[in-house]
Amino acid sequence: MSSPLIIENKIKDYNKTITVSGDKSISIRWVLFSSLANGISIAKNLLISEDVIAALKAIGKLGIKSEIKKNQCKIFGKGLDGYKYKKNITIDAKNSGTLGRLILGLLINTNNPIKLIGDKSLSKRDFDRISTPLSKFGAKFKLKGRKNLPLTIYGTKNLKHIKYYEKKGSAQCKSSIIFAGMRTKGTTILKAKKSRNHTELLCKYLNLPIKIKTKKNFDIIKIQKAKKISSLNYNIPSDISSSSFFIVLTSLLRNSKLIIKNVNINPSRTGIIKILKKMGVKIKFLNRKIYKGEKIADIHVKSVKSIKPIKCPSKLNSSAIDEFLVIFLVAAKANGTSYFTNLSELNQKESPRLKWGYKILREMGIETEITSNSIKIVGNPNLKINKKIVIKRYLKDHRVFMTSVIAALAYGGNWEIHDKDSIKTSFPKFLEIINQLKKWKKEKILLRLQ
Ligand code: S3P
Repeated sequence: MSSPLIIENKIKDYNKTITVSGDKSISIRWVLFSSLANGISIAKNLLISEDVIAALKAIGKLGIKSEIKKNQCKIFGKGLDGYKYKKNITIDAKNSGTLGRLILGLLINTNNPIKLIGDKSLSKRDFDRISTPLSKFGAKFKLKGRKNLPLTIYGTKNLKHIKYYEKKGSAQCKSSIIFAGMRTKGTTILKAKKSRNHTELLCKYLNLPIKIKTKKNFDIIKIQKAKKISSLNYNIPSDISSSSFFIVLTSLLRNSKLIIKNVNINPSRTGIIKILKKMGVKIKFLNRKIYKGEKIADIHVKSVKSIKPIKCPSKLNSSAIDEFLVIFLVAAKANGTSYFTNLSELNQKESPRLKWGYKILREMGIETEITSNSIKIVGNPNLKINKKIVIKRYLKDHRVFMTSVIAALAYGGNWEIHDKDSIKTSFPKFLEIINQLKKWKKEKILLRLQ
């Protein structure tokens, strides 16, 4: 167990340029697509974190080799039928919902049962949302308590194409169905509430048989059996979810500027930018590019004198789903009351994040109320924290840890934040980048490990 992180002082204003690590969603998808490609795929700037290593180990269990050297990862794909389904395989998705859920779509043709396990947090999360649609294809499942891990998947060679309506706006669910459709004869028709579309963009780039009709609130995705996946060399852009901690920190300071280089700004991920702009934060995208269908830019952020409250339109929820904890920190400084609604999915994450957002804000002295799917935050532009705040027992949710660090650096107080190792799942370099921004208020060590 790692020792808690102690933060006793605010960070000083800065004017800096940083680069954050590779995008987690794209990194895991690159691993999975490449594992079924013909030949060697190479990724640069792959996120090297526990979730992605778990993905590489998972394909390793299926007989697909990989190697990491410096900033480069190679996967030695053996084609669409290249997985070796040995007897008694157990795949450990660790903390990763994306890995655990997406890979099941690829395993529906296994001729031997495969067990899927995960850590304490993942074992509390809903897998019924995946087993239900995949059962329609013909696979069978045994789940703990009907919806949780450990689960066992029993595949079939006799797959049926399906019609399915994905109503939660879950990209993990949508992607799992796309992967299963790719393995199935006939046309699978998926009506999916809007969510991040990296899987679809990769399918298009790889010329896989996918057709997408975009409607206002949902997409109709038609997918047919894939014949071949070409090897996929990919330069992974930086992660907007990891960037969001620094975007928020900058917006909460008095007089700071930050540039974050080469970030994926896929519109299905930029909810945080739209929300913060509505709250008055100054954010610009410069140096825009398109890379393999994904939009990329440098993000420029400047702090502002006053932050406006927001009644957050729930149509932005899915595109900001991983960023709400830090968005709540911005609402805490607004000159009025903010409302966020239709957010029940937030309690389905690595920890019940709506509840944790509420707990952190309360500890900070912010007036706030929650229901099972909404939160009201009464902003206080003059908030100063002068007490000790201890953050622990949050199921080691990486985003709870990082949000607490940002709160401590922006608002002050005396914070003791446990489970530092949680950042290893998504953003091992987080504290290193915090240290790049350091110009501390007092001449003493402020980021201290006990
Ligand atoms: C992800 C989708 C989102 C997100 C997660 C990553 C993905 O989950 O919260 O961190 O890569 O597809 P849901 O699809 O469950 O909303």
